[in-house]
Amino acid sequence: MSTVDPEPVLGWYARHARDLPWRAPGSTPWSVLVSEIMLQQTPVARVIPAHAHWMARWPTPAALAAEPAGEAIRQWGRLGYPRRALRLHETATIVTERHGGIVPADVGALLALPGIGSYTAAAVASFAYGQRHAVLDTNVRRVLARLVAGQPAPPPALSVAETRLAESLLPDEPAVAARWSVAVMELGALVCTAASPQCGRCPVARDCAWLAAGQPPAAVRRRSQRYDGTDRQCRGRLLAVLRECGTPVSRADFDAVWPGPGQLARALDGLVTDGLVDPLPDGRYALPGTVPGEK
Ligand code: ADE
Repeated sequence: MSTVDPEPVLGWYARHARDLPWRAPGSTPWSVLVSEIMLQQTPVARVIPAHAHWMARWPTPAALAAEPAGEAIRQWGRLGYPRRALRLHETATIVTERHGGIVPADVGALLALPGIGSYTAAAVASFAYGQRHAVLDTNVRRVLARLVAGQPAPPPALSVAETRLAESLLPDEPAVAARWSVAVMELGALVCTAASPQCGRCPVARDCAWLAAGQPPAAVRRRSQRYDGTDRQCRGRLLAVLRECGTPVSRADFDAVWPGPGQLARALDGLVTDGLVDPLPDGRYALPGTVPGEK
């Protein structure tokens, strides 16, 4: 297995890391978990204010669990992929009922929570509890693919070989390993970026197999998916109506924000199936659990 001296990356991180709220000393495991769920599909700049508002409203899992799931969806606002809010509410409930209100430190227990996959479990165990785990998000995978394997980009799906490689590079001391993981992630976010790597600023440029190979280009990437006119956009509009109205809404309120009735009906069905919207007996719709007397 390859070896990489962690010191240059750790030193670079000490000098250049962004001062992100969930990295502040004393940040709670709940704060770290909320940040990781938000960061799964949303850029850091949009997560910062959303995370601050969320933590101000619900500083503990128990505080969130005491409110209906619909409030989590409302607070999620325009972060996108709102099923994450629903899963976070379910997780808060389980943490409150089965873990004494404390986000578990054990990776197995974290993996058993809704919406937490292997990346998020490793991230929370490392960043909140200082444990030693390979934390493989897309930035880390790209840095390691370039530095060690000489590849411009990681393979589309995470492989066992990548996980083994990342584990072999972890410093022995758990707290240092956790710091290494976030440092490599930050290097991928700020310097070793996908589109415009700044190798002149990289603390491990001298050891980089990809740079040594002459920076071979990645295969042409698929263009990002369009959003306008998609079912996703339609779902977003319908949820925005529910968030902003504060009361149950009728089908006519939805019709006012989306021109295609067939697509609207399909999107609404999807929201109901996903548990993001409750159909009421009177034919109106509400965010789940927000109408007194309803389930
Ligand atoms: N710091 C810790 N986890 C992070 C993440 N997922 N993205 C950016 N910064 C982070």
